[in-house]
Amino acid sequence: MLKGSFPIEKFQGLRTPFYYYDLPLLRRTLDAIEQAVAGEELYKVHYAIKANYNPVILREIAARGLGADCVSGGEVKAALDAGFAPESVVYAGVGKSDEEIRFALNAGISRFNVESAAELEVINEIAASLGKVAPVSLRVNPDIGAHTHANITTGLAENKFGINYEQLEDVLRLAMSLENVAYKGLHFHIGSQILDMMDFVALCNRINQLAGNLHRARLPLGDINVGGGLGINYEHPNHLDIADFKAYFATFKRTLDLPEGTAVHFELGRSIVAPCGSLISRVLYVKEGTTKKFAIIDASMTELVRPAMYKAYHRVENLSSGEPEELYDVVGPVCESSDVFLKNTSIDKCHRGDFVAIRSAGAYGESMASRYNCRPLPESFFDV
Ligand code: LLP
Repeated sequence: MLKGSFPIEKFQGLRTPFYYYDLPLLRRTLDAIEQAVAGEELYKVHYAIKANYNPVILREIAARGLGADCVSGGEVKAALDAGFAPESVVYAGVGKSDEEIRFALNAGISRFNVESAAELEVINEIAASLGKVAPVSLRVNPDIGAHTHANITTGLAENKFGINYEQLEDVLRLAMSLENVAYKGLHFHIGSQILDMMDFVALCNRINQLAGNLHRARLPLGDINVGGGLGINYEHPNHLDIADFKAYFATFKRTLDLPEGTAVHFELGRSIVAPCGSLISRVLYVKEGTTKKFAIIDASMTELVRPAMYKAYHRVENLSSGEPEELYDVVGPVCESSDVFLKNTSIDKCHRGDFVAIRSAGAYGESMASRYNCRPLPESFFDV
């Protein structure tokens, strides 16, 4: 959404900060995914609910036939409530509680992505107590680093996620020996905000290698879930507003070398929803510091924690002024020095009351909001 297209006259009566979602852009993004996987009957795309579980967004995505990727019982429930079919729901997470496992089994989800031998045994026991057989995939830690922020890399041996790939065959044999789990395949995820397709090539190479090992050991492979991780362009939200799905899916098509008929699942979060969301805020004060000028806005790290938590860049635009740019540190009101959106950034001259948009905030924005400092959770509005 170009700066001039934000309906600031409609924003006048609203309490800031709030999330504003461009649903037409979300729809175009979903169209782009559909086009990129057209003809690939064995590709199944899931949406990673953790990126944004706003019910309006979820319903929009569910209606397009995507599956859901969940990481908690709460997310499984949110997916089902929004209309995702239980047989399209996959559920990962290193620490699934008994209650969550029971809930997901009763809901009839399609897959538990199991992250340890200990979890496998607990799922088996709970499934037995319910007279069910749990469909499981084994999440493998592929020991592959992605070129992204250290806090959002998940596929390294040092990370808590998945089963060490050297132990895979033993855990797979265990899965096959248990009566109340049915082995269905392998699951991977190497990290988030990945823009270098070579990282996905490395993942595919690891998957090919493991598939070969299982074949030689006469163990079943099942289907493959490659996780999510495709990044977006945070610098240019107006010109590059849809992730490069073509290059992403083509990388897997070119590099994965799997037995005929192997289904491949994807779990995309950020690339589906990040571009369509902006956090809208008002300038409260402009303050001349000793060495710099601060634009103090009414949004903070409690609505969008990514800059404070990962030093993530989000473009900030003054929607109201149109006066020549000046240099500011754009900061929020929360009592933490890390409550800063941008330092030394050049934006249109700020005045009290100006509307400011913090762009590309549709993923891991609203879904990570907190009530720190007794701040209310942000509301959301939609361009339909
Ligand atoms: N599948 C699994 C197993 C995951 O752990 C994740 C994200 C995804 C899929 C979706 O990844 P995506 O396509 O969104 O990259 N809060 C951080 C990102 C954390 C990602 C956690 N896992 C951020 O704001 O950058």
